[in-house]
Amino acid sequence: MDALEPDVFTTQTKELTPEERQKLEDQNKRGFVTEFKANKLEIDAQRNWDIFYKRNETRFFKDRHWTTREFKELLDQETNGDKRTLFEVGCGVGNLVFPLLAEQTSEEGCFSSGKFYFYACDFSPRAVDFVRSNPLYDSSQITAFQCDITTQQVHEHIPAGNLDVCTLIFVLSAIHPQKFRDVVLNLWKLLKPGGLVLFRDYGLYDMAQLRFKPGNKIAENLYVRQDGTRSYFFSEQEVSQLFQANGYEIVDNAYVHRRTLNLKEGVDVPRIFLQGKFRKKPEE
Ligand SMILES: C[S@@+](CC[C@H](N)C(=O)[O-])C[C@H]1O[C@@H](n2cnc3c(N)ncnc32)[C@H](O)[C@@H]1O
Repeated sequence: MDALEPDVFTTQTKELTPEERQKLEDQNKRGFVTEFKANKLEIDAQRNWDIFYKRNETRFFKDRHWTTREFKELLDQETNGDKRTLFEVGCGVGNLVFPLLAEQTSEEGCFSSGKFYFYACDFSPRAVDFVRSNPLYDSSQITAFQCDITTQQVHEHIPAGNLDVCTLIFVLSAIHPQKFRDVVLNLWKLLKPGGLVLFRDYGLYDMAQLRFKPGNKIAENLYVRQDGTRSYFFSEQEVSQLFQANGYEIVDNAYVHRRTLNLKEGVDVPRIFLQGKFRKKPEE
């Protein structure tokens, strides 16, 4: 995928065309999935992600080389020689963490990239195994562990008040909205005062949302894919509210409109992501 135009950042919700509005209305034709099915998807969430990684292994997600462009906080900052700590939540097979690790261990990288000790977790034991068996995995620089970030498990792995940065990249959308608050509060406990959550995920009315067919809707803006994994589409207001109500201040939060060209299919793909930075306020 090649970017066609520079990204546009805005807090305005996308205006739908009449056809797009119709597509969203059509999604309601068969109503929401049954309560039984919705509960089962929640119970099977870990299993479904694990099967996803069994099927796709390390092939599905691309390395996320854009992170230092979008999040300058990942670049070098004065730390008196101490390593900062970064926690990648829902790390998958490590597409965010390994490019950063590679950069900081390369000769030239030492000067441009921040120095981090990395923690990485995922729900799927298979994904964590892929991270641990990556040739770059070195326990003096990174610890990967399996955990459900909506529970208290994470506190067995990382001491409270220890983290400088948490990254939530296309992860919250995979979690049921009723549990968003648990995630945000867990990260709050782990961060140092002033520590940052860096967030990027699907934005409201992204083309991936408009593409869902009737029968796939679990709740407003929450859908199930063919393989049982779920996807939520975020509005700027609700994400701001979520963080603000739980002890953070908003540094940035906006939709990113990105137009990319799928070279194989020759089609222009307009995407909408939501990207934010949230700072942990000191306890009052
Ligand atoms: C769309 S993938 C994104 C993976 C990775 N962050 C990336 O951008 O390449 C979502 C990831 O979140 C993980 N996940 C879903 N629910 C989770 C939970 N409750 N706790 C931890 N990880 C979870 C899934 O296993 C999956 O690896």
